[in-house]
Amino acid sequence: MIYLDNAATTWPKPKEVYDAMDHFARTTAANPGRSGHRMATESERRVQEARRCVAKLLNAESPDRIILTFNATDALNIAIKGVLRPGDHAVTSLIEHNSINRPLAAFDVSKARAAQDGTVPPEEVATLIRPQTRLIALTHCSNVLGVVNPIEPIAKIARERGIPLLVDASQTAGVVPIDVQAQRLDLVAFPGHKGCLGPMGTGALYVRPGLAVRPFREGGTGFASESERHPDEYPYHLEGGTPNAHGLAGLAAGLQFIEQTGIERILAHERAMALRFIDALRGHPKITIYSGRAPDRQIGPVSISIAGKEPAQVGAMLDERYEIACRPGLHCAPGTHRFLGTFPHGTVRFSFGYFNTPSDVDAAAKAIEEVAAC
Ligand SMILES: Cc1ncc(COP(=O)(O)O)c(C=O)c1O
Repeated sequence: MIYLDNAATTWPKPKEVYDAMDHFARTTAANPGRSGHRMATESERRVQEARRCVAKLLNAESPDRIILTFNATDALNIAIKGVLRPGDHAVTSLIEHNSINRPLAAFDVSKARAAQDGTVPPEEVATLIRPQTRLIALTHCSNVLGVVNPIEPIAKIARERGIPLLVDASQTAGVVPIDVQAQRLDLVAFPGHKGCLGPMGTGALYVRPGLAVRPFREGGTGFASESERHPDEYPYHLEGGTPNAHGLAGLAAGLQFIEQTGIERILAHERAMALRFIDALRGHPKITIYSGRAPDRQIGPVSISIAGKEPAQVGAMLDERYEIACRPGLHCAPGTHRFLGTFPHGTVRFSFGYFNTPSDVDAAAKAIEEVAAC
């Protein structure tokens, strides 16, 4: 199989990830932090190691500001529902994933339009801010187009207006360098199973020190059990219940792999694969390419369509005839497809990861040309 669906979840994972999860499951997998015995203590140590690795990835002030979640959706829900109150206004964009669109739907929301290249212009965000605006929630990178947003100027606007900025780093964490202190970000949500190279069922939310977020998940934390109130201390304030410790053992290994490999190298490789693919298909009379309009902002995901063929049909042909895995449809981002004019059928998305090779790219481009010709 040529796997080009890394924007959904990366595959394969580094060998170290499988080894770490296998070792954890066979030797350590007691409930972390719940009992005093050595297996539980070691299990807790592994969870905290994952937290430290995430904190290092983002240059967070402390691992305590990292909430371990079950995916990006979980992290985004914790942030949105923990910051906004009924009647509050939020600013977002028209190119968001439903993991932002849907939790925001209960609030008063203004949506910024995207520019021609698919980025969200900071000035467009600024014009939508009102006195009642309590959150700006934006994707760091469109999951349909693979174009990275100019997050620093948006963070500057948010800071000047005193409004917290929530960044959905689902497509960028582990691929594009993020420094929450230098970039002055307030909340960053992302999955562990995409660019961070960990397994599904993992994710994280960074919360800036001093920012108040109300918990919507309350329960057991393994300490202060005499109290009926969920603890105020971070990170436990926003966590509760047994964590996915098996997955977190894998996530720590994925993040260590990224550190050893170098995130700049990973970014350069993914960008090179995406741009090679775009170049190979450029100018084809039947193929429309929606990505690559800002090449220096391009990362792994690339969307295309073929004239006269439904995206779902193209995806099925590539799977059945060529053993190529891609993702046709709306990619949980209907607004992006309305912007592109590809709603309701969507596009065919190819998303390149660190383990894809130039020959994967060339084989996919050749297969697409053959599908377009038949
Ligand atoms: C931009 C964006 N936000 C949120 C999500 C949701 O991620 P998860 O499935 O880990 O909750 C995705 C997943 O594709 C995404 O691309």
